Amino acid sequence: MEKFILSLDEGTTSARAIIFDRESNIHGMGQYEFPQHYPKPGWVEHNPEEIWDAQIRAIKTAIEKAKIEPNQIAAIGVTNQRETTLVWDKEGRPLYNAIVWQCRRTAEMIEDIKREYGTMIKEKTGLVPDAYFSASKLKWLLDNVPGLREKAEKGEVMFGTVDTFLIYRLTGEHVTDYSNASRTMLFNIKKLEWDEELLELFNIPESVLPEVRESSEIYGFTKREILGAEIPVSGDAGDQQAALFGQAAFETGMVKATYGTGSFILANTGKMVRYSENLLTTIAWGLNGRVNYALEGSIFVTGAAVQWLRDGIKIIKHASETEELAKKLASNEGVYFVPAFVGLGAPYWDQFARGLIIGITRGTGREHLARATLEAIAYLTRDVVEEMEKLVGIKDLRVDGGATKNDFLMQFQADILNRRVIRPVVKETTALGAAYLAGLAVGYWDSVEEIAELWKAEKVFEPNMDEETRERLYRGWKEAVKRARGWAKV
Ligand code: G3P
Repeated sequence: MEKFILSLDEGTTSARAIIFDRESNIHGMGQYEFPQHYPKPGWVEHNPEEIWDAQIRAIKTAIEKAKIEPNQIAAIGVTNQRETTLVWDKEGRPLYNAIVWQCRRTAEMIEDIKREYGTMIKEKTGLVPDAYFSASKLKWLLDNVPGLREKAEKGEVMFGTVDTFLIYRLTGEHVTDYSNASRTMLFNIKKLEWDEELLELFNIPESVLPEVRESSEIYGFTKREILGAEIPVSGDAGDQQAALFGQAAFETGMVKATYGTGSFILANTGKMVRYSENLLTTIAWGLNGRVNYALEGSIFVTGAAVQWLRDGIKIIKHASETEELAKKLASNEGVYFVPAFVGLGAPYWDQFARGLIIGITRGTGREHLARATLEAIAYLTRDVVEEMEKLVGIKDLRVDGGATKNDFLMQFQADILNRRVIRPVVKETTALGAAYLAGLAVGYWDSVEEIAELWKAEKVFEPNMDEETRERLYRGWKEAVKRARGWAKV
């Protein structure tokens, strides 16, 4: 009986489930969106029951499409939108909505903490203090949900990111992995333990915390009533780290970029904890008794800028039109777009930057805006890669995510970085990474070497722009960014 790995990829807007075989081929996939809740401006929540329902439906669809029986699943891997913060009771009943990573409700709280404790937090967690991470969200829940703190003090509350919630519901075990723990801003990434000083600073009782485990080991078995079989759940990693694994970026200096609503660029730094002023230091995974670190540049708005062209100013009907439009021009003709809709993330970390389009003349049309949007995605990526290069020698850029279909963007990315951009055959790298982690734990795959051999390039984009043009374009970008910064404070 042929066996498969089931990967659960629980993202910000939809839950997916994908069934892979030993050669990384996809046999079945299910994907369901769930509602986004915006109770106040800047607040973002998910209903954990809606996440769970979408995830279970996705699993059932994937199994059906693959035409397999649940007992043919050798193991399950979980990967997830990171930082999003949930609390639930021993029965697995949510005690509040999930506070999503994008939610800004604790921005002010963090500003105060950052002033006083910024250096200590960066040193211990590798993170630039921000409302993005779980710590302030969990504090907000304990301080604002009636009765929650009292319950927590009695040991009746479980906290976790989405991986932890799903694994708890699937198996009854309260666990997370190093990669997810490293995004809470409560975890000491060098000592590899929950940090007492930070728990005290955010007033978090230890009893709510999950046990932190490696990213590839058996955490538990699925309860029989869920899928009709007891299947080991044996892989867990945050989605960006899982994508790094799925891209087989196992060596120091290997970099991946995932182009979604935002972009997340991660560079493997191996055993070394490297600190950068403007990037995050994070745990990539824990595997075979060893922790692997990464540098990360999180860019909040990239694909969302293309969505804005489509749904906001409505100059295109489909995202794919940007490619033809951009190609109508021989250059950007001096038009730049800085899509700082929610401020700027890495490497600028400017909450007060706002979007800007500059260089408009009477001849500017939608093709200029389309081109400027795609170019912006590439410039933002270069901003991050340049920071990475200060600390680690970088090889090619391995890419994944929706926008990698856009050949104009990929070629421009290679040109502006002056390095090769490589698109793999299997585009579902996030789910694949979680599948690999789960499969390694149960001997479905034997080693990372075996996995590295499975990774294949579909297309390589070679840089093909003269230095003068490249640097002139990038200088223009830097000038445009300068003008976008601090705008919300004016
Ligand atoms: O840090 C947030 C990130 O994990 C979200 O990923 O794929 O849900 O947009 P995604």
